[in-house]
Amino acid sequence: MSTRSLSEMIEEAVKAIRQYTDIVPETAMILGSGLGSLADQVENPVEVPYKDIPGFSVSTVHGHVGSMVLGTLEGRNVAILKGRVHYYEGHKMESIIFPVRVLHALGAKTLVVTNAAGGIRQDLKVGDLVLITDHINFMGANPLVGPNDEKIGPRFPPMSTAYTPALQEVARKVAKEVGFTLAEGVYVAMSGPSYETPAEIRMLGRMGADVVGMSTVPETIAAAHCGMQVVGISCVTNVLHKGPSTDTHEDVLKAAAEAKPRFINLVRGIVRELGN
Ligand code: HPA
Repeated sequence: MSTRSLSEMIEEAVKAIRQYTDIVPETAMILGSGLGSLADQVENPVEVPYKDIPGFSVSTVHGHVGSMVLGTLEGRNVAILKGRVHYYEGHKMESIIFPVRVLHALGAKTLVVTNAAGGIRQDLKVGDLVLITDHINFMGANPLVGPNDEKIGPRFPPMSTAYTPALQEVARKVAKEVGFTLAEGVYVAMSGPSYETPAEIRMLGRMGADVVGMSTVPETIAAAHCGMQVVGISCVTNVLHKGPSTDTHEDVLKAAAEAKPRFINLVRGIVRELGN
């Protein structure tokens, strides 16, 4: 067990990143399965492998690479997490949210979180992008369990506006400008790694969930805890209203790749608008 405090660990990670670059990101992004190529569009990129950042864990999942890319996008300073670690890989919740805390300590005020998700609601189709308006944490764990560091955030942080309403408006406006329909919905996080059974899909729909995935919620809780604004976007990679997914992880990556141009336009537009 480490004897260093969380604040010291965050400081060490920031120091390691500062060996590479002085960029202060305005906006941070976490890119989900198959959506990582946006990081290739960053100008003057500085890429820091997770293995060089103390406290960062490396994902074992195919399609998830591990590095932080800092640079500019749409004229704004950004930091992008290419790949994330998941609860189902066996990582502790505190490891999953550590990068969010480091992004905040680097200066980021806003977090864009993206993921691949299964569509529960009837009208959702493969390739749809869904603006996350709220979430249900059904992972069976909360990332803030344990001692609370008041320097980072409050013991009992509210989640009523975790997905910042003003940023939802920005996303709607950008989608309209880009010219595609942005669906909206509630994201439920399951721990995974097994996909949902038919009974679980029925239950999740009745609970009020529109899309289901295995990520994003811990990071959003951590971001809201430390006072960051959050905007979340799911890419529907498979639909569940006709029954459980038989899709492989490769199918998920393929569907995400198809939605990529719209997704990239949306996220770039959001980044551009955020500085205004
Ligand atoms: N269920 C859970 N997570 C997912 C799915 C799904 O159907 N698709 C992509 N991530």
